[in-house]
Amino acid sequence: MGKKFDWIRNELKNLRDNGLTIDVKVVESAPNALIKINGKKYINFSSNNYLGLANNLKLRKASQKAIDKYGVGPCAVRTIAGTTSLHIKLEKALTRFKKVEDVLVLQSGFIANLATIPALVGENDIIFSDELNHASIIDGCRLSKAKVIKYSHLNFKNLEDKIKTLNLSKQSKAKTLIVTDGVFSMDGDIAPLPNLVELAKKYDCLLMVDDAHGEGVLGKNGRGIVDHFKLHGKVDIEVGTLSKAFAVVGGYVAGKKIIIDLLKQHARPFLFSSALTSADTAAACTAVEILTRSDNLVKKLWENTFYFKEKLIQLGFDIGKSQTPIIPIMLGDVKLAKEFSKKLFDKGIFAIAIGFPTVAMDKARIRLIISAMHKRNDLEKTSKIFREVGKTFEVI
Ligand SMILES: Cc1ncc(COP(=O)(O)O)c(C=O)c1O
Repeated sequence: MGKKFDWIRNELKNLRDNGLTIDVKVVESAPNALIKINGKKYINFSSNNYLGLANNLKLRKASQKAIDKYGVGPCAVRTIAGTTSLHIKLEKALTRFKKVEDVLVLQSGFIANLATIPALVGENDIIFSDELNHASIIDGCRLSKAKVIKYSHLNFKNLEDKIKTLNLSKQSKAKTLIVTDGVFSMDGDIAPLPNLVELAKKYDCLLMVDDAHGEGVLGKNGRGIVDHFKLHGKVDIEVGTLSKAFAVVGGYVAGKKIIIDLLKQHARPFLFSSALTSADTAAACTAVEILTRSDNLVKKLWENTFYFKEKLIQLGFDIGKSQTPIIPIMLGDVKLAKEFSKKLFDKGIFAIAIGFPTVAMDKARIRLIISAMHKRNDLEKTSKIFREVGKTFEVI
């Protein structure tokens, strides 16, 4: 191989030497409570299948029926021949579910952020972004070319200071956007949305929240963070994913009709990338129907979450500031986190280690995602194994 690849070899070696390479596991089953890897079953704490809908019979049947009618792929972008009656059905269902004026369905949550931020702000504008926002928000901000001002995590006072320092005059033509994750994906803590709403109003900023880990989890029947805080109509833009609690692949933007109308004209992934598949769209419609009809799964998710968090706290683990079913087991050192995860894996628990660059260098952790599909004895068995492994590594 030529010299031009030297830097790549060095980069990969550097990652390996520092224990930072990602070890991808190949899954041989649906993301159930028990997941199959290398022919063996593991208790699964690494899927975003919060409500256990990924293998739900009704969702599977809806997908199969949709494929029979609409085919497997749309073969067009939404604005050419890719918008089907199923997309419209899903957008209407989500509009009712989220209690917003309108919804635009896109191909993923990541894409929804890339689509939305550059459509709303540009080169001469300003974005205030929580320092721990998801990579897709960060990339959306970069794409927009707006000036990005990070504020300390969850710290709305720091945000106000930064807004004030900027001294935006009423005559300024710069648009301003405050953007935050709703539930932070690595820590499981929740954005102070009521305070952000106040600040957005006071300083006339647009306010956008990414509800990827809030939907199906927070609010009545899992309607998400805006419902949780009873802020309907007060948050300009909610970005959502269909890939976690809704258990398919896809994303959407929910909010004021005027914003959705603009996105339909300017959001580049809507204009230039093929539409969501019929299987995903139909299954997502069914997921929304299930949640609208009953909150049983959301209740079960929270019962499991409270039960297991209590166990971990009793054992003496540091679970950070988690307020949701995302539970970090804070370990600090990335090598320790990887060894810990490997030991759990050897004992039948699939819970991945998260290290740099996903989290800061000294904030490596095991990240657990609790689901409604976990059975009580899965959780009991897991807490016993956590006790053993925690003692082995002397972290409890
Ligand atoms: C906060 C947040 N936003 C967006 C995404 C991306 O969603 P998707 O997987 O649908 O692209 C994720 C997924 O990890 C996320 O955690």
